[in-house]
Amino acid sequence: MAGAFVVVGCRQLVTLRGPARPRVGPEMRDLGIIADGALLVRDGRIAAAGKYADLKPEIGAEVEVVDAGGGVLLPGFVDAHTHLVFAGNRADEFEQRIAGATYAQIAAAGGGIRATVGRTRQATEDELLEAARRHARWFLAGGTTTVEAKSGYGLEAEAECKMLRVMRRLRQEGPLEIIPTFLGAHEVPEEYRDRPEQYADAVISEMLPRVAAERLAEFCDVFCEPHLFPVATARRILSAAKQFGMRLRLHADQFGLSGGARLAAELGAATADHLEYTDTASMDALAAAGIQPVLLPGSVYALGLARYPEAREMIERGLAVVLATDFNPGSSPTASMPIILSLACTRMRMTPAEAIAAATINAAWSLGRGGQIGSLEAGKRADFAIYACEDYREIPYHFGVNLLRGLWSRGTRAATFPN
Ligand code: NIG
Ligand code: FE
Repeated sequence: MAGAFVVVGCRQLVTLRGPARPRVGPEMRDLGIIADGALLVRDGRIAAAGKYADLKPEIGAEVEVVDAGGGVLLPGFVDAHTHLVFAGNRADEFEQRIAGATYAQIAAAGGGIRATVGRTRQATEDELLEAARRHARWFLAGGTTTVEAKSGYGLEAEAECKMLRVMRRLRQEGPLEIIPTFLGAHEVPEEYRDRPEQYADAVISEMLPRVAAERLAEFCDVFCEPHLFPVATARRILSAAKQFGMRLRLHADQFGLSGGARLAAELGAATADHLEYTDTASMDALAAAGIQPVLLPGSVYALGLARYPEAREMIERGLAVVLATDFNPGSSPTASMPIILSLACTRMRMTPAEAIAAATINAAWSLGRGGQIGSLEAGKRADFAIYACEDYREIPYHFGVNLLRGLWSRGTRAATFPN
């Protein structure tokens, strides 16, 4: 990590440079592309990003040269909504849905989130860490260097803390940066089946104080759905989390207009996520409160649904849109940000540039990291990826093809591919 190197031979250096705040409206289409660019890195940070010809005088003999081979260089993706840590998978439910069962029917029959809760409770911390390492490799292989990660498959204090400790250990191992979110209110566990309000009480009085005392989470999230945690209950939990100094994110309006986005606006959350059913009045409430929408087209696609969030409407209303994978074993088993970019372009009519801004600089701001990651500007962390293509638009265009050639995290090479 120490020492200096320069990446040369970038046909497009996609910097995302610009104002030090989330990008809105037409700003999302300005990627700050430098043709024939070079990136100078010192001690894990970006020292300069510019035209090779302009940087050349600054490049001393001691500086190692890395050749991008005429490829495209982008900031590492920032995935602002993932469920990174869980045991097992739900490929069986995938097949049940193909046969006609719905996500809600499977959940009501004891599958869904509760199936993963059973496996995650049973797993030891080391087993869970091993599973999470495997998932982390998938994120890196898609060009992602930072993920937000949610608990929510423990649903009792010790198992929730176990998940959050796994995130902490994996973060320490590197190279994937992990930002932890407490999602105790993800589902109502079996033992509280007919007592959801009492489960919410347990989240507030048992789990939140412990997670806060052990400093295990930066954010708190709630799956705000009428049959699980309706608006009034979500308000109770999130208000308590705020008292503990956590910032807020919210699964909102995923399967219906339940008022989650409005609640996010009321509470001053950092983000409102999903938003498939959000109406224009709620969008305006989010815009007025400066809340960022996190759109998750992977879950709509993988559940075989047709209603994607209204990204165009949101951009037109001045919202600083974020894209994320929602990686989880049920509704979105992909860790690939390039696939999400493709879906955003083809299903939500975002331009490739808007999609990339949503998956880098806007995602970074939504996690309170806009000053450190998400763009290639002097002083920021040297998290970047080289793609084997001539134009950044090829990344969403070649859906399912991984063009990634190399990935660097904090100035250290994190992955290499034969592209
Ligand atoms: O974001 N909506 C709730 N949570 C996940 C699904 C988790 C699961 O099915 O395991 C989501 O879609
Ligand atoms: Fe989610």
